[in-house]
Amino acid sequence: MGEKVHFSELGLVNTRDMFQRAVGGGYAIPAYNFNNLEQLQAIVTACAETASPVIIQVSKGARSYANSTMLRYMALGAVEMVREMGSNIPIALHLDHGDSLELCQSCVDSGFSSVMIDGSHLPYEENVALTRQVVEYAHAHDVTVEGELGVLAGIEDEVQADHSTYTKPEEVEDFVKKTGVDSLAISIGTSHGAYKFKLKEGEQVPPLRFDILTEIEKRIPGFPIVLHGASSVVQDYVRLINAYGGRMEGAVGVPEDQLRQAAASAVCKINIDSDGRLAVTAKVREYLAKNPEEFDPRKYLGAARQELIALIKHKNETVLGSAGKA
Ligand code: G3H
Ligand code: 13P
Ligand code: ZN
Repeated sequence: MGEKVHFSELGLVNTRDMFQRAVGGGYAIPAYNFNNLEQLQAIVTACAETASPVIIQVSKGARSYANSTMLRYMALGAVEMVREMGSNIPIALHLDHGDSLELCQSCVDSGFSSVMIDGSHLPYEENVALTRQVVEYAHAHDVTVEGELGVLAGIEDEVQADHSTYTKPEEVEDFVKKTGVDSLAISIGTSHGAYKFKLKEGEQVPPLRFDILTEIEKRIPGFPIVLHGASSVVQDYVRLINAYGGRMEGAVGVPEDQLRQAAASAVCKINIDSDGRLAVTAKVREYLAKNPEEFDPRKYLGAARQELIALIKHKNETVLGSAGKA
């Protein structure tokens, strides 16, 4: 990693003000994952064009894919590009699913304005202790911290078979108090990836556990809640992927109306990665199949970027309700 840099030098903001406004405002801040130039361009362009605050987030894997020094300048470039567009939207750079104190510290030192420490797979007291350590370091640099209670099925669940463990509402107050986190990710039935529910013929997606969310809200009123695994797994993309050589049978996600309901409540950050991946893959497959002679990456990645912009605008405007809130 290069020299230390504070997020404010990159024109970024932490999540504190964004969340405060979103909690009272009945909408959620979008947190879109990115790994490369085209995804980042699409995210900030769409958010600038819809006047939406935005959290651009990278996983540990994305950070090593993109390179941490490169990432710092990508974030700086994204902020400057948006300002040149005449937009003043707030942009936070967030570490998604941080798994150690050292990784969180390294992100704070390289310009992140927000970090997640995901101790959800640990015994409760160990999760508290690790999260507390991250909060102490991050807050000393004015960086905000997301913690997690409850385990989502899917990638977080390596040690727990393939089912989720819902957040226990009776733990949230103690966790928030002892750790000092700024926001809390919870488990109410979502999961990561493109195969969120195993449905039999004719079965509908089961509703999220809004009863648990309500219980949590009662215990920590006004506290920012985060929903992971919130892609809808857009079926038009799944069809395109399958039509042009892919194989994604049974891919299904969270219906948009349920996400809208969550965004209107204490959920003030909604994480979306898989839908962006699907949009890119669908358009790249379609473009290459229809233009077999083409070999310029700008052509097929350009088509993917256009689609991603359209998808993100749609999400901000009709699902999260964040459009016009910057
Ligand atoms: O929640 C995880 C995100 O979708 C990032 O996934 O670790 O494959 O980059 P990744
Ligand atoms: P999806 O896989 O549903 O997009 O969830 C992304 C996420 O939670 C990133 O942390
Ligand atoms: Zn996640």
